[in-house]
Amino acid sequence: MSLTQKKKDLLKQEWLKLSSAWIKETREGRNSHRNGLLDQPMLEACGYVEGLRILDCGCGEGRFCRTLAQRGASYVLGLDICEPMIKAAKELQPSGNEYRIADVQNLSFLADQSFDLVVSYLNQCDLPDFIANTREVYRILRNKGRFVIANLHPMKSAGEGWYKSEDGLKQHVILDRYFEEDERHWRMMGVSPTNFHRTLSTYIQGFIEVGFNIEAIIELTLDKKKSVEFPDLLDELRVPNFIIYCLNNPSNQP
Ligand SMILES: C[S@@+](CC[C@H](N)C(=O)[O-])C[C@H]1O[C@@H](n2cnc3c(N)ncnc32)[C@H](O)[C@@H]1O
Repeated sequence: MSLTQKKKDLLKQEWLKLSSAWIKETREGRNSHRNGLLDQPMLEACGYVEGLRILDCGCGEGRFCRTLAQRGASYVLGLDICEPMIKAAKELQPSGNEYRIADVQNLSFLADQSFDLVVSYLNQCDLPDFIANTREVYRILRNKGRFVIANLHPMKSAGEGWYKSEDGLKQHVILDRYFEEDERHWRMMGVSPTNFHRTLSTYIQGFIEVGFNIEAIIELTLDKKKSVEFPDLLDELRVPNFIIYCLNNPSNQP
């Protein structure tokens, strides 16, 4: 998908507007979707990271890069298009980590086969061209390298919120226009950022066409043991909001 410069600037502006609230919430550790739902399976999907060279696409203020460094990664590069996110990430930069401002749809400044693992933690839904990102990641991964992607579940990105009864009880999620792949917006931290909705088969077919093997697909739900600690995640037992794709590069490039 080719976008006008005006549209690209608009997408960037949305993250600029969100960044201070996003950084504050992350630094305060207040995001229960990360703490109670996504972090553990993402770390399990990344596996043993000691000694690995890792790229984080859309790293935000660097939270997951720091976690990977703590777990022994030898080098973590975090890329983000939003300057204040990268500035904040640099403030807490552990040794072995590096952060750069970049659009993850073009990684031409990175050498072929130069990373062991790439993560994308809620970033592909922000990209007008997720295939460009996937293709670039494939190129920079060494043979048998892995790409772990957390994303909005396609049912979430097509969803239009809860249908509630008159007494305010949540009856079911409204799911419509699933097969219309286009921009969707909903309110987050006072801004309505753009999410690009795509069907499940578009993602999976895209990964396969680029050349990846699919190792696993994880549709996240709440571990019932966590429901006391994270009561605000109880809806996750009813409908899927997030998904993790675990891919590997099977190629035998020279
Ligand atoms: C939902 S946030 C996730 C941040 C981080 N991965 C985390 O889990 O805290 C999405 C991030 O992707 C960044 N982003 C959006 N479009 C991007 C692009 N084309 N290239 C690089 N980063 C981008 C945004 O600036 C934002 O920091």
